[in-house]
Amino acid sequence: MKKGVFITFEGIEGAGKSTQIEILSEKLKKKGIKTLTTFEPGDTELGKKIRDLLLNPSLSINPLSELLLYFADRLQHIEEKINPFLSQGFVVICDRFTDSTLAYQGYGRGISIELITTLNKILLNSFKPDITILLDLSPEIGLERNKKIKKNDKFELETLPFHNRVRKGFLQIASTDTERFIVIDGNRGINEIATEIYDKLKERLKKLKYEF
Ligand code: TMP
Repeated sequence: MKKGVFITFEGIEGAGKSTQIEILSEKLKKKGIKTLTTFEPGDTELGKKIRDLLLNPSLSINPLSELLLYFADRLQHIEEKINPFLSQGFVVICDRFTDSTLAYQGYGRGISIELITTLNKILLNSFKPDITILLDLSPEIGLERNKKIKKNDKFELETLPFHNRVRKGFLQIASTDTERFIVIDGNRGINEIATEIYDKLKERLKKLKYEF
């Protein structure tokens, strides 16, 4: 059975992930490539319920409980969606994955990176994406963009220093895994970013012997 490719998008709030995922998946589909787009947290029956708990600003959650809920969502997501589609040869594009847990719960909330990495090893067997696209942007710009669409999720209400730690976290993670990461400057026009993503992805997929 042919195995597909697992691509994730990461970045702070308002980095433009959803827009870029939509553009990329349309381009791939037009080329006749079987493509699935998905996201975390919340893209399974159980996940929807977990997402409501996680992003409800009026519900207080202990940081470790929060961490475990993200892992619960991810386990269900891998089993129900990511793995079945990968095993059918799909390109699976996921909006956020374990790097978000490292950046938000680790660098943002201050939970030990070692603990998160250990849980990742035990629970997910360190399952990771083939390619991760990090849309890098300053939190001032990202949060301003999201304010306009009045998102007001739990993390939009966090402080600027929190988002700065998250951004730094993402850049730090990317710098330790340059084989997997493609870092893109998110502070440019939508089309310019989309073109860069497509070109760099094509190059990277060639290296993985996945031609299109
Ligand atoms: P979204 O706004 O991209 O849908 O993501 C929902 C929020 O969940 C976002 O603010 C980041 C947060 N998040 C974490 O804190 N840890 C995680 O592991 C994931 C997947 C998301």
